[in-house]
Amino acid sequence: MIHRVRGTRDILDTRLFEYAVSTIATYVKKYHFTPIMTPVLESVDLFKRSLGTETDVVSKEMFIVSSSSGQSDESICLRPEATASTIRAFVEEGVQQTPWKVFSWGPMFRYERPQKGRFRQFNQFNLECIGSASVAQDAQFITMLDRIFNQQFALDSYGLHINFLGTPEERKAFRGTLLTYLDGQSGLCQTCQVRKTTNILRVFDCKQDACRAICESAPTLEQAFGQASRTEWQQLRNYLEELSVCFTVNTRLVRGLDYYNKTVFEFVSSDLGSQTAFCGGGRYDHLVSQIGGKEDQPSIGAAIGLDRLVMILEAHPEKLMLPQDPAVYVVIPLSDQQHGLALQCVDALIYAGHTVELLSDGSVKSMMRKANKMGAASAIIIGDDEQAAGTVTVKNMQSSDVQVLKLADLPKFLK
Ligand code: HAM
Repeated sequence: MIHRVRGTRDILDTRLFEYAVSTIATYVKKYHFTPIMTPVLESVDLFKRSLGTETDVVSKEMFIVSSSSGQSDESICLRPEATASTIRAFVEEGVQQTPWKVFSWGPMFRYERPQKGRFRQFNQFNLECIGSASVAQDAQFITMLDRIFNQQFALDSYGLHINFLGTPEERKAFRGTLLTYLDGQSGLCQTCQVRKTTNILRVFDCKQDACRAICESAPTLEQAFGQASRTEWQQLRNYLEELSVCFTVNTRLVRGLDYYNKTVFEFVSSDLGSQTAFCGGGRYDHLVSQIGGKEDQPSIGAAIGLDRLVMILEAHPEKLMLPQDPAVYVVIPLSDQQHGLALQCVDALIYAGHTVELLSDGSVKSMMRKANKMGAASAIIIGDDEQAAGTVTVKNMQSSDVQVLKLADLPKFLK
């Protein structure tokens, strides 16, 4: 027996997953987002340049791919996220029109320690709005996501955390202030000692009690903001309040990828155990030039963790407007001689828009049992007599009523 790879999973019924994807896609198209697709394989350099070499995703979690011949000298990986790929496509394909509002969804790969809600292969629904600087865009983007969760999926037990990271210059100034403060403290965990030199803001993200306590009294990033950042941060909160979007300001929210500036946010749910975030994103105004584009494009985006969203939805399917499964008709030829006729019958029913299953193995009794188990609406039985007369016998599986019909009349009868 060969088992699936650790941190991956088989989803044997993808209906809820598909419903989630199509609901989000339909909704975001109203905001004029259009679908794109980018490759799962990307160059490692793309993520080094965009996410930052010191981030966990790049330094510890990349799946590096090589060909079996070992001939490729390019360093390739399985994408850990989709923002960098979307920006690469924007630059490489020379997209001119902005804002470029696009979405994509598919598998991402991170070599993390697997646990509930955390996989090594997981799925994201990714949204990017490239080429718009206004904070009104941030408010609209966050509101759109909130409406998806709240209105489209009827989620009620989730929270929206927002924070403002200021400009790169403001963060640079703040890093110095924070370092001076942290150097005067004792008790920081080993990881945070390293973070002081690699990614100091991530100290705010630490779950250790001692580090949390130290962060409680730390200077805040907001103290380093200039007038423009102060105004934007206030405007964002005002807009969200005016749109009745509930949020919590979380000054510890710094996000794990380096490209963010200004607005960042996460949607969290207590239904998910320790992996609470089911959507995360923010503004990134300098990624286009980081990746090699000529002109910076202020942008905002987010990714919804589809596996985690579906875990939440599974808990209350009754609140969802799930599409009804169509009635299934089962065609049962009584012997090999009727297989040809049964095939034609299935073909005609499918053409007429019905959902049909051909059962052609085992005794009539076992085929009827299978039809019952799969919840078939009717069984269409074709034996010697039916074949000779050009008819079929239709048994309604609920009422057990039996009717003999001309084969040609069957599609219409089932309608
Ligand atoms: P992220 O916060 O790394 O952001 O991931 C977004 C969401 O993907 C998370 O909130 C979580 O729901 C899901 N996710 C992440 N890792 C895993 C995992 N190992 N297993 C299951 N689900 C996971 C990004 O990826 C950014 N690219 C989002 C973005 C788009 N920012 C701007 N545009």
